[in-house]
Amino acid sequence: AEKARVLVASNRGPVSYQVGEDGSLHARRGGGGLVSGLSAIGSDAGSVWVCAALGDGDRAAVRRADGGLLPAEETGGQRVRMLDIDASVHAEAYNGIANSVLWFVHHMLYQTPLEPVFDAEFRRQWGSYEAYNRAFAEALAEEAAEGAAVLIQDYHLALAPRMLRQLRPDLRIGHFSHTPWAPPDYFRLLPDDIAAELLGGILGADRAAFLTRRWADAFTDCCHAVLGPGIPSGTRIGVHGLGADADFLRKRAHEPDVDERMAALRAEIGEGRKTIVRVDRTELSKNIVRGLLAYEQLLADHPEWREKVVHLAFAYPSRQDLAVYREYTAEVQQAAEEINERYGTAQWTPVVLHVKDDFARSLAAYRLADVALVNPIRDGMNLVAKEVPVVSDQGCALVLSREAGAYEELGEDAFVVNPYDIAGTARALHEALSLPEAERAERSKRLAAAATALPPARWFLDQLDALTDQPS
Ligand code: G6P
Repeated sequence: AEKARVLVASNRGPVSYQVGEDGSLHARRGGGGLVSGLSAIGSDAGSVWVCAALGDGDRAAVRRADGGLLPAEETGGQRVRMLDIDASVHAEAYNGIANSVLWFVHHMLYQTPLEPVFDAEFRRQWGSYEAYNRAFAEALAEEAAEGAAVLIQDYHLALAPRMLRQLRPDLRIGHFSHTPWAPPDYFRLLPDDIAAELLGGILGADRAAFLTRRWADAFTDCCHAVLGPGIPSGTRIGVHGLGADADFLRKRAHEPDVDERMAALRAEIGEGRKTIVRVDRTELSKNIVRGLLAYEQLLADHPEWREKVVHLAFAYPSRQDLAVYREYTAEVQQAAEEINERYGTAQWTPVVLHVKDDFARSLAAYRLADVALVNPIRDGMNLVAKEVPVVSDQGCALVLSREAGAYEELGEDAFVVNPYDIAGTARALHEALSLPEAERAERSKRLAAAATALPPARWFLDQLDALTDQPS
């Protein structure tokens, strides 16, 4: 087969498979910033997307695929090579290391009593993380043409750049982090050898890129603190913000299924009420419980808002193999129920919580939003903050955590909050709800313009250009 000139690698690929009751396989294309950005790789024979099989359906699809390449009609035309990595190796790498240790370090989620444990089990999982990264490096080495460009994504694949460099010194290798990067004092809670491996793995790339200057600087600071000499001369550090896909969103948000969802949501909200909207994966870093407590504080401090506002909180299940995520899901549900019990009336449900993932309903909520609440503890970028102003029908006010990457681009026109400050977030919600209509529309327009300045396709192509323009 023809070798690829451009390759991308990510844990989650653009397509996933479900096994139907009759044993047949159903392909589903995913959404989100990473998928739409990387899709700019195009569908010609000169490009390949390497990803991992994530469940039984994916594994079955790989086994019947030709050389691991999925049928083009199921991938939307793209050449996708899915890796059938041993299920327990994948689970230890993805759940044990990537989504527990690395995710928690970069989002600074370890705080007493939620502490990291670096014991023998952790070391075994680390071995799986290495094996998982090696599987990617080997597949990329196999698929890449002489001098090809390879863009490796995220904390799942921090070791792959160096491993690939050793196999194929001829390649141009980029690494991109979609998460924040922890500052050195926090990053160094990792065992020293692991910290050095992670940094050294990424430094195997010609270019290490981040969503904001802040995360890029933190990475550089970690290199100095952990490795001493810092960034080797062969590696450049880059910053590429990722914006919302305005054309796609505006079109998708006006399709009939979204209109249907709007009607259903209007019935849940009731006449003449304002809406505060949030949409997240149910994830500790998203800070959903404190958001609910801030809303409760708003109702306590400002009785004039009772019966006059509804909080649409969409919290979609994520990484449910991990106990902390399951427990957090239960906490979110309980917090919402308590508010409804305390303040709800026969005519008014203060919090409408939906947990079943439904993109059309998310868009419907965006269109109805008076206020968008985005209050993560830390977030690489946060695309919801960018998507709501683009889609909202009458313009929305944005309450935004200063710890989200999006703050650097949207901070001026948002109501900015410290995510830990519940009373401060309640005040910001009150101000956002009270914003005069004309000013709200003005601000929302400016937010939408800033949010769409860097469409996903440009995010991808800029990285590729920077990588191939770089002297090697
Ligand atoms: C974060 C990561 C992405 C990942 C997404 C969903 O945003 O940076 O790489 O795709 O979370 O997480 P999941 O574990 O469901 O793939």
